[in-house]
Amino acid sequence: MDLSAADHRIPLSDGNSIPIIGLGTYSDPKLTPKGVCATSVKAAIDVGYRHIDGAYVYRNEHEVGEAIREKIAEGVVRREDIFYCGKLWCTALDPDHVRPSLEKTLKLLQLDYVDLYIIELPMAFKPGDLLYPRDENGKYIYHKTNLCATWEALEACKDAGLVKSLGVSNFNRRQLELILNKPGLKYKPVSNQVECHPYFIQTKLLKFCRQHDIVIVGYSPLGTSRDPSWVNLSSPPLLKDPLLNSLGKKYNKTAAQVALRFNVQRGVVVIPKSFNPERIKDNFQIFDFSLTEEEMKNVEALNKNVRFVELRMWSDHPEYPFHDEY
Ligand code: A2P
Repeated sequence: MDLSAADHRIPLSDGNSIPIIGLGTYSDPKLTPKGVCATSVKAAIDVGYRHIDGAYVYRNEHEVGEAIREKIAEGVVRREDIFYCGKLWCTALDPDHVRPSLEKTLKLLQLDYVDLYIIELPMAFKPGDLLYPRDENGKYIYHKTNLCATWEALEACKDAGLVKSLGVSNFNRRQLELILNKPGLKYKPVSNQVECHPYFIQTKLLKFCRQHDIVIVGYSPLGTSRDPSWVNLSSPPLLKDPLLNSLGKKYNKTAAQVALRFNVQRGVVVIPKSFNPERIKDNFQIFDFSLTEEEMKNVEALNKNVRFVELRMWSDHPEYPFHDEY
């Protein structure tokens, strides 16, 4: 694979392609001033990112769209140069809600299609305007989950031209097989977005996905923001890791760049989130060095098999994906 800053798309099974690095855009809305997301997406496009990962539930999709449209208007990129991934939230997994959800995303973005639309989590919540429905005791209200029915509604969105490629996120092997073995399947999932970094390397899921031509998109590739309200902090900070730092010294790179390069070199798409202009730029500088085979093995050996993102609050959902080994 000869990837460069100018050309770093990898093929998807449906004939489309995905840039191997994208900008993550999740940031706690309460802590993020208005406009910071848009400024960051614009900065990312200026330094060469062509892939933006977002979601309705992040509540900043309008800013992502504004940034993309501004860069198109300026002539920096064309729409077809940009790859935007949006996500179907848990309250909209009923087939009737799928297309309206995607249309809501398109309206916020003010774009007429997304490049990839994925089921964000394989767990349905009670449909409605509340994104995190809870009862009077604070317990989450779940909903009957039929992933195959959701998938068929997504297939119809692709046929209608609202989305180019379809994928999933946080699916385990059993849930992927549910879709892959669905009678009458029209489009296979092209990708599965899951946590993936040197402390959680996803060996088994990666092997399974490779066998089925499913690209792994690695979220939290830098080890998350370590926000204790949703991150399991039992593992130490990834970017403080001594091996990642010593490899960084060798190549005149940072631990973050080494962590990203590790995934890219094994064909895993990375979507590091940063709203800091310097770090946005740094995280993209991963095409001018490579790790040796032995270094790749040594980084793999850092695996702790512990997730930063466990989503334990939903572990009693019948489709909670992380009880299975992979
Ligand atoms: P910031 O937005 O201030 O740069 P992940 O993508 O694994 O979820 O990590 C995102 C977190 O890592 C964010 O808190 C982000 O903060 C921080 N971050 C992003 N890039 C770097 C970097 N190159 N070095 C250190 N921290 C980074």
